[in-house]
Amino acid sequence: VFRNKLTFFAAAKISSSLPPAELPEIAFAGRSNVGKSSLLNALTRQWGVVRTSDKPGLTQTLNFYNLGPKLCLVDLPGYGFAYAKEEVKEAWEELVKEYVSTRVGLRRVCLLIDTKWGMKPRDHELVDLMERSKTKYQIVLTKTDTVFPIDVARRAMQIEESLKAKKSAVQPLMMVSSKTGAGIRSLRTALATVARF
Ligand code: GTP
Ligand code: MG
Repeated sequence: VFRNKLTFFAAAKISSSLPPAELPEIAFAGRSNVGKSSLLNALTRQWGVVRTSDKPGLTQTLNFYNLGPKLCLVDLPGYGFAYAKEEVKEAWEELVKEYVSTRVGLRRVCLLIDTKWGMKPRDHELVDLMERSKTKYQIVLTKTDTVFPIDVARRAMQIEESLKAKKSAVQPLMMVSSKTGAGIRSLRTALATVARF
């Protein structure tokens, strides 16, 4: 499914402008700058469709991309940091929360965590929300190229330990680097199962 052409489908800033859920969706959530947009590029090998930036807070809307006629990938605005006004940030966060807890057709949320920094309170908040709403999610450790392999393993263990009690919706943890391509194929395989229904 990741060989399909990636095309921009819709952007939404408020819940009333969310597009109709016509395809199964996989959403990418996480703090600002964690590498959501870069991961979309790496997964689809179609650079240029999804914009990435050094400056945190680039993605300011929920962006929907169709992957052929099979799957929709959703790039969510990051939380925690943005060059934006406080009210604006709160509005995105509310929309992200509403989206992940109520969206029909949402099959999986990849919650991206920077391997170097680990999970922060905001990440745990989102996990709790997804547990309550029974949204299927999986943790994806990003930028594994920025730390030693031993630290990647340590981080993975630490997070698995902290989520041990929450088994209802959590899927196996994955580790990726969009820069080197490490782990991208495995994640593609894991997510491809979501497209079939
Ligand atoms: P927002 O849109 O602000 O929420 O950020 P984002 O999560 O979409 O992050 P984005 O993909 O724009 O990447 C942020 C920065 O991290 C960019 O400078 C990327 O080049 C860098 N980056 C992304 N993935 C990797 C990776 O695997 N390794 C390294 N070393 N850098 C990465
Ligand atoms: Mg982005």
